[in-house]
Amino acid sequence: MAQLWKGRFKKELAKETNDFNSSISFDSRMFEEDIKGSIAHAAMLGAAGIIDKSESEKIVDELEKILNEIKSGTLQIDMQAEDIHTFIEGELTARLGQTGKRLHTARSRNDQVALDIRLTLRKEITETEKKIKELICVICDKAEENKKTIMPGYTHLQRAQPITFAHHIMAYAAMLCRDLSRLEDTKKRMNICPLGSGALAGTTYPLNREMVAELLDFDGITLNSLDGVSDRDFCIELASTLSLIMVHLSRFSEEIIMWCSWEFKFVELDDAFSTGSSIMPQKKNPDIAELVRGKSGRVFGDLTTLLTAMKGIALAYNKDMQEDKEAIFDAVDTVKMCLTAFTPMIETMTVLKENMRNAAAKGFINATDCADYLVGKGMPFRDAYKATGELVALCIEKNLTLETLPLDEYKNICDLFDEDIYIAINLEKCVADRLVIGGPSEQSVDIQINAARNAVSVN
Ligand code: ARG
Repeated sequence: MAQLWKGRFKKELAKETNDFNSSISFDSRMFEEDIKGSIAHAAMLGAAGIIDKSESEKIVDELEKILNEIKSGTLQIDMQAEDIHTFIEGELTARLGQTGKRLHTARSRNDQVALDIRLTLRKEITETEKKIKELICVICDKAEENKKTIMPGYTHLQRAQPITFAHHIMAYAAMLCRDLSRLEDTKKRMNICPLGSGALAGTTYPLNREMVAELLDFDGITLNSLDGVSDRDFCIELASTLSLIMVHLSRFSEEIIMWCSWEFKFVELDDAFSTGSSIMPQKKNPDIAELVRGKSGRVFGDLTTLLTAMKGIALAYNKDMQEDKEAIFDAVDTVKMCLTAFTPMIETMTVLKENMRNAAAKGFINATDCADYLVGKGMPFRDAYKATGELVALCIEKNLTLETLPLDEYKNICDLFDEDIYIAINLEKCVADRLVIGGPSEQSVDIQINAARNAVSVN
């Protein structure tokens, strides 16, 4: 297919130039957005009297046909075309002749591509949000089932204090809720229409830019034509938001991988969501979680690609900016692919409650509660901390736990201890008493679940 810009050139394009310059292999996925943008533009040109109303109608009708034909597979996109814009305009002109040639009046591929990416990414954000919401709901359901499932909470990967499995996984729901709101926020700045910016300097035609924006469901129009064509902040913002999503999924994955090990055995993944080894018959590997953790690097790389592509280019459009699409599409596709596999893996995994409870019984995770018991009897916290430290040392020496240490040993270290210490250090009670908002008690976890479910229904 011929280039759109042939007039000034005497020679044919070198194959090497064509291959290197072409973007159709990765921008053809924007065919629907490109056509819808052109339909809005053509309708506006007609309404504003810039082209003949009847010609505008013909263009709109033919573009609709082209869209349906591509969708149904009866029209193949020509992969020899320079880009999707060239292909669609070329196809239109092949069908309508002179009339087709009027479509590009008062438009440049620079504002056209800026429009197409915004439309494409707007749709991708909505799809990503849907998948994040599904994961949040699955986490909330799992949390509901595990509000009483005691497990050790960790710092430094050392058992620290008692929590529940519900509380632990609701931390991920909190992260994902922030991701949802970041996506919404990114969409706000993305949803501004650049069409009318022209190549860089706007146009002399009396465009109705608001009409185009309205037809395409934008919230407004850009106010500086140079910025309109050369702004890719919205790609960078989205890549950054997607990178954070991958950070969250990757941390969650790391925990799943640990919990699946024989060392932890806190969860068992469903057979349908794990893989085996070609040599070790006993193996059941958490490959999905490992791949999600591994793929996070691609998305961070995409963010770096975008930042680097944009950081040194003078206003306005430069061809460097064509690099935006592969990077941001890869980031979006990777995140969606990860969520598609990750969510059912979480949904179907079995929580091994007993193993969690047994792990919680070791590691003196109720030591803080023991110190708090002494505080309750009037001792300053720092002294209570020291006395409890001595108790823990004694337990380690005698191979006992705080639960099995006899009362007289307690009393030897501090005479404030009484029979009720055994109630105070009971793990179920330790968790139930953490009623503070944000804590692991059932009531506090209910607040978290309600907030997450609310974020899913509002956003
Ligand atoms: N394929 C180009 C891109 O993705 C379209 C814009 C071309 N503009 C130009 N001045 N060459 O950026």
